[in-house]
Amino acid sequence: MGKVKITLIKNGSAKVDCDKTEIVMLDGSVVVMEGSFFLCRCGHSKNKPFCDGSHSRCGFRD
Ligand code: FES
Repeated sequence: MGKVKITLIKNGSAKVDCDKTEIVMLDGSVVVMEGSFFLCRCGHSKNKPFCDGSHSRCGFRD
């Protein structure tokens, strides 16, 4: 299993740095990610589970 590092960003997303990683979507499809990407923590992204920058427009604080 490859290394995964998840870093929470204040008032923003969760940055993921990883080796090849599979994300199983709600419809059962699999997205393979590698390197760095950002997951939504605010719940407002139109591209969940990925961050689309909506957190800055909705005033997310955490
Ligand atoms: S954390 Fe960025 S859109 Fe939700």
